[in-house]
This record gives sequence, C-alpha cells and structure tokens, in this order.
Amino acid sequence: MAVRLLSKLKVLPEIRGIANASSAAAPASLSDFDMQHKTPVVRKQHLIPKAHYGGRHAVTMLPGGGIGPELMGYVRDIFKYIGAPVDFEVVDIDPTVDNDEDVHYAITTIKRNGVCIKGNIETKSEAAYVTSRNVALRNELDMYAYVLNCKSYPGVQTRHKDINIQIIRQNTEGEYAMLEHESVRGVIESMKVVTASNSERVARFAFEFARKNNRKKVTTVHKANIMKLSDGLFLETSRRLAKEYPEIEHNDMIIDNCCMQLVAKPHQFDVMLMTNLYGSIVSNVVCGILGGAGLLSGRNYGDHYAVFEPGTRNTGTAIAGKNIANPIAMINASVDMLEHLGHHFHADLIRAAVDKTINVDRVMTPDIGGSASSTDVVNAIIGNIGH
Ligand code: NAI
Repeated sequence: MAVRLLSKLKVLPEIRGIANASSAAAPASLSDFDMQHKTPVVRKQHLIPKAHYGGRHAVTMLPGGGIGPELMGYVRDIFKYIGAPVDFEVVDIDPTVDNDEDVHYAITTIKRNGVCIKGNIETKSEAAYVTSRNVALRNELDMYAYVLNCKSYPGVQTRHKDINIQIIRQNTEGEYAMLEHESVRGVIESMKVVTASNSERVARFAFEFARKNNRKKVTTVHKANIMKLSDGLFLETSRRLAKEYPEIEHNDMIIDNCCMQLVAKPHQFDVMLMTNLYGSIVSNVVCGILGGAGLLSGRNYGDHYAVFEPGTRNTGTAIAGKNIANPIAMINASVDMLEHLGHHFHADLIRAAVDKTINVDRVMTPDIGGSASSTDVVNAIIGNIGH
C-alpha cells in the first residue's frame, strides 16, 4: 500500500534505494542534513576487540536509577554464589547532569565488552536538547531489535493462563526518532521515522527468530489505515519478507484491535512484530496480563552488541529502598545474558531456582500476590540453587 502511494508521490526511487540496501551503512555522499533527516538512525559501527580475560566475560553493568541499584546487587549476590564466570564493569550515570559524558563512557565500555545489563537510566533534565539516555544508548549501539519473552508463571495468579508470546519490537526509530520542532508558533511537529532498511532488518529478525524457535505464526501490528506511508512501509516490508518463510503463518492486526485482543484472547498470539512505540505499549499490556513490571526481561540486539534489562524498563522510583521490589525481572535479564554468553549451565541453575521459588514454594513479592520481601525472594532462589 505504502509503495503504491509513494510511487504516486514520485519519491519511490529513493525509498526503493533504501529498501534494496542490505545493510544500514549510510552512503558517504550524504550531506549532514540528509544524514539527520533521511537516515537518522544509521550508525556506523567500528568494531573493537571484545574483552575476554582467562575465559571470564567482562560485562558492562548500568544500575540506573530507582530500584536498579538494589536489583543489580541481587544479581551480583546470585552470580557470586554460583561462581558465574562474569566480571561486571559498573558504570553509574548521573541523571542530574545535562552533558553526555557518562553515557559516552558507558557506550565505550559496552563496545569493549559487547554485552551489558542495565536498569532504567533516568534523564532528569526537561531541556529539549537533552535526549533520553536509554534511547541514545540503543541508537548509538544500533540495537534495532528488542525481544520480550512473555511466558506465564503457573504460580502467579492471573486471569489468563499458559501464555507464551514473543514480542519483537523495532528499537531505534519510529516515534522515538526524537526529532521535534515548532514549525510555527504553537504548532509542534514530531517526526515518526520508518525506514525500509530498519523495517526489513527487524522483520527478518522476527521471521528468523520464529524459524529458529519453531514458532508457527508472526503477527505484524500496525496503524497503516491511518499512517499509510510510515506504518504502510513497515507492514508492506513484513508481508514481503513473509513470503520467504512459507512454513510460518503471517497475519497483521491494527494496534487498537491488538490491545483489545490481547486482554481478551491472548492465546491467539505467537510472535508479534511491531514498530517502537506500539512495542512499548504492547509490552506493558502483556507484562500487566502476566503479573506486572517485576517479572519479565527484555533483550536489545544489534549486529554487534546485546543489552539485557527488565521488560518494561521502568525505574520503580516510588518503591526504591523499601525491600519490596520484585527482583525476578532483573534476575531473568541476567539469565538471558548468561545464555547469550554461552554459560548455559549457570543460566539453567538460576532459571530452575527462580521457577521453583515462584511456582512451587510461592515465595513472591506483593506486586504478584505474595508477602515476601525482595531479599526473601533472593534468599529463596539461592536456597533453591543449593550446593
Ligand atoms: P514506574 O517506575 O512508576 O513503574 C510502574 C509501576 O510498576 C509502579 O507501580 C512500580 O511500583 C511498578 N514496578 C516497577 N518495577 C517493579 C518491580 N521490579 N517490582 C514491583 N513493582 C514494580 O513507571 P513509569 O511511571 O512508567 O516510569 C518511570 C520512569 O521509567 C520514567 O522516567 C520513564 O521515562 C521510564 N520508563 C518507563 C517505561 C514504561 O514502559 N513504563 C519505559 C521506558 C522508560
């Protein structure tokens, strides 16, 4: 649909040029204006050797604000207990400072280590020129795909049981382009940027993910009935790629209906593919259905770097320091990280202990119906790991 409309607007050759590009590298001939306005998410990556000393992995840890630091403390306790071969390089980012020095330092360490675990980094400044540190990190590292594994815990009381959905979200552009301006006084325009190259990368990621994990269906979520060019391009791209994966069923759904279907009949979904903001909203909806912000973990992937974090990316500032925050989402993020590094033995140890703690022992924090403190849950997990 988008391609038809674009052809009427006579801009098809440029767009087609991007669509056919196999990588996101920006042509050297682009002017600065073109770089910002036509390829705002293209980031040239210069690889540097990854740190890997004596078989141990160095991993960047960004505790962030709110409950982040205490949750990272629990992860470190568990890693220490099981002797996980991981050394953390901790970088604290000051949320009150307007300059980006801390963030650039964090990015350099992630480039060196290749892998990071993070909490939500607050951006306290409301100045328009100070952009979200979390978004800057994802963009600078070109982590174009986000994966949220949404699987029910039988021990957590929820309206729907046995949900098993994977959300794949475009992670670097769309509504998060952070390109806003006041065109005339009192009129603010915010650009939603959808590029053919990033739509193709994330769609391919979703179909490859479905194939590798033996998933049966991919649902593209969109609003192409209103945003005919931007969401139209995203939808067209996923439809085109779906033809290369005939064994996987492909359908699409408008975001509004998708939210209604999710809360009413979530079992119809398998792998879900969507643009950035829909991804954030749908992730929060599914986390809510499964038990809230404290359970699920999310993974940010690019071609070279991976960052692991709690699925809803909240700061949880109101519950910080009270020993009531659910530690599971961050512990699950650490399990994802261990899997990514190839430490399957250690990942399995923690995952099994978490499952037993929630589903069998029912040691849970108040947000998912329990009365245990954060440290009770962590001690129960360590107890279930045993010796
Ligand atoms: P919040 O941090 O207030 O959390 C939302 C709710 O989830 C609160 O009731 C909180 O107590 C609860 N919660 C969060 N983590 C929990 C845990 N581990 N255990 C138990 N309960 C937990 O979320 P809000 O107001 O949406 O955002 C706060 C900050 O996070 C803002 O700076 C925002 O920019 C940032 N943020 C939020 C995202 C979201 O999806 N909600 C996404 C990205 C950033």
